[in-house]
Amino acid sequence: MEDFDYLGDGEVYLDGACQSLRPRPVIDAINNYYSEHNSCGERVKYKWGRVTDEKVEATREKVLKFLKLKSKKYTVSFTLNTTYGINLILNQIKADKFNKIMTSDIEHNSPFLASLAFSERTGLPREVMVRNDDGSIDLKKYDFKKAIVVVNCASNFDGRKLLNINELEKAVHKAGGILIIDAAQAMAHSADIVRGVEVDAICFSAHKLYAPSLGVIVWKDELDDVLDVRFIGGGMVDDVDKEKYVLSANNKEHRYTRFESGLQAWGEIVGLGAALDWLEKLPKKDWQNLEKNTKELFDFLNSSKKVHLINKEPNPTMSFYIEGLDSHLVGEALSRENIMARTGYFCVHYYLDHVKGFPPLIRFSLGLHNRPEDIEKIKKVLGKVIN
Ligand SMILES: Cc1ncc(COP(=O)(O)O)c(C=O)c1O
Repeated sequence: MEDFDYLGDGEVYLDGACQSLRPRPVIDAINNYYSEHNSCGERVKYKWGRVTDEKVEATREKVLKFLKLKSKKYTVSFTLNTTYGINLILNQIKADKFNKIMTSDIEHNSPFLASLAFSERTGLPREVMVRNDDGSIDLKKYDFKKAIVVVNCASNFDGRKLLNINELEKAVHKAGGILIIDAAQAMAHSADIVRGVEVDAICFSAHKLYAPSLGVIVWKDELDDVLDVRFIGGGMVDDVDKEKYVLSANNKEHRYTRFESGLQAWGEIVGLGAALDWLEKLPKKDWQNLEKNTKELFDFLNSSKKVHLINKEPNPTMSFYIEGLDSHLVGEALSRENIMARTGYFCVHYYLDHVKGFPPLIRFSLGLHNRPEDIEKIKKVLGKVIN
């Protein structure tokens, strides 16, 4: 695709699950910010600042539109990444309003460890739910009474999805709990799973969505009722006296400031807006190309005798190991042929290593930049490695 024209011939990038390649319009939007309106957002009155303000506000609206959520109920705040967003929420939750914290066995360390630290700090018990092989949660098995539930809606090793997210949302709310969704892996190709679902918070990383490095928290206004203020500074207050202050977040219009302490990554936020525009305009054929590449690579891996594929179904993110071969050495061999893939446990140590006992894996995560010839090359090179 011409928007990834900087990719050299034969360069095959397969690490979109970590961070997507950025298309030209996103790179241009960031350059434009630095060269045309480099300014602080939401506080300066000069001309450049107004341009930044408009673009930042537009990005908040585009995020809600992308997720099919209403601004009457939800607020978009920016932060560093998914990990930071989840920790920011958990570190400010009033623990005495809840009975326990729950997560699941297939989580990235980001919610897995943040929930562990929460439990250690507050003394509230932590429960690790066992996800079904298809990614759903057996709701009958668990008691969500006043529970803080933090789970992903798509995994980062095989893309399995939280298929019953709607039912989970209802069960958790009915039991007086809150549901925080880690949507880091869903946004780039599986956002439908979370679109329009009225969870309490969605955390994701713009850098996995063709946008610059940036975190996003999309949160329901009622979440405010269970949060304390622990992380505070510039950009968050309307007035400050010697011993007290007035939070800007008390005003619905500035509610986003609740999680935005200090100066924000304005250029990156503008870049996220450009990425969402780019995705919206993307021709159907580009999605079909991703689907076709995914299916072809899945079929190849699935039919190779020595390959143990973790995926049960095709997904742009797929993990595997090759019988008798060290995955890290395979990764290096692929790299020598300009194929960039990840190896290891991808921050899912508990499930992949301790529950399943897999050796370190190889992960291919495809994106919209991948060309059919990339798949041909992978098949050829990996075929040689396997044999
Ligand atoms: C499912 C999932 N959750 C959370 C994260 C953490 O994202 P970040 O490192 O951007 O905070 C990742 C990163 O790969 C992920 O795949």
